[in-house]
Amino acid sequence: MGGKRVSRLVAAVFLGWLVVAGPVCAQTRRINVICSVQIEWCELVKKAYQQATGVRMAVIHRSSIEALALLMAERKNPRTDVWFGGTGDPHLQAAEQGLTVAYRSRQFDDLQPWAQAQAKRGAFRTVGLYSGALGIAYNPEQIRRLGVEAPRCWRDLVRPEFERQVMMGNPTSSGTGYLILSALTQLFGEDGAFAYMKKLHRNVAQYTHGGRGSIENVVRGEASVAIGFMHDAITAQERGAKLAFTLPCEGAPAEIGSLSLVAGGANAVEAREFYEWALSPEAQTLARQASAFQWSSNARVSGVAGLPTADMSGIIEYDHRRFGSSEVRKRLLTRWVNEVNAPGNE
Ligand code: F6P
Repeated sequence: MGGKRVSRLVAAVFLGWLVVAGPVCAQTRRINVICSVQIEWCELVKKAYQQATGVRMAVIHRSSIEALALLMAERKNPRTDVWFGGTGDPHLQAAEQGLTVAYRSRQFDDLQPWAQAQAKRGAFRTVGLYSGALGIAYNPEQIRRLGVEAPRCWRDLVRPEFERQVMMGNPTSSGTGYLILSALTQLFGEDGAFAYMKKLHRNVAQYTHGGRGSIENVVRGEASVAIGFMHDAITAQERGAKLAFTLPCEGAPAEIGSLSLVAGGANAVEAREFYEWALSPEAQTLARQASAFQWSSNARVSGVAGLPTADMSGIIEYDHRRFGSSEVRKRLLTRWVNEVNAPGNE
């Protein structure tokens, strides 16, 4: 066959493919999601939602603070339609900055009061998707080897025997890290919290990029104590890790992991459909298959066997509104960078 004939044939096949594939492509429905929960849960959500609806889903995984930074950077030309999960404070900051849009779910009345409260606080530009308690996770064997008593309180973590034994999320990148910073501010007052964190800094082996990383590092034996979420500790336990978890005796907050629709996203209809799906009992029950043990926001999701029943007695009335404000966030993070994670504070 001559070269010209071959290229005419290729062109004809290509044109034929365009005719056939063209309308199919035009009909493909899409959605772009930033996912700030466990990567296993993000992947399961993508798989299940695509299978159920045929909507093509692009999912990127980002820590809560990175996700907020991405939405801020994309403000003029949003590439994202939905922000799924991540701690509640940055969702409120996104709402305050008009990065997300108001929407009242059809399932609003089925949601737990804390999930509804998050929506009201954010003028319906966000809503509670799940919740989980913050606390201290530790490896009892390593603690025994160190010859120290297991930590029970925030104040225990600054004891000299925990030198370079503590891991926590970096508040400038991790929503968990920011929640630790703000919870301490609420518990001890702003100056008290900074005095505490300067001492704690000496015992911190690493500020991890994302919150769950601190627990994973303790599981790997890189340190003996992590400040993190109970559900992430339960996931590690389920996978065989020797990890204990305690709510600090002075009290600790519960996060309200949130869900938001991004303002100006190209696929607004698909985004709302996905939002409704994400709040449904069916979707929320899926989390367990990904070993994600947060408390679900839909009250129609029944309890899960083996999951500790929520003892809320040590959980404080966290001031979501205060710490969800962009101005407070900026001040606390600036102080943390200049006073705590700063040269000279060793
Ligand atoms: O691992 C899941 C999780 O703990 C969520 O419950 C929480 O909202 C999120 O991670 C926080 O992640 P990060 O600290 O990395 O922003």
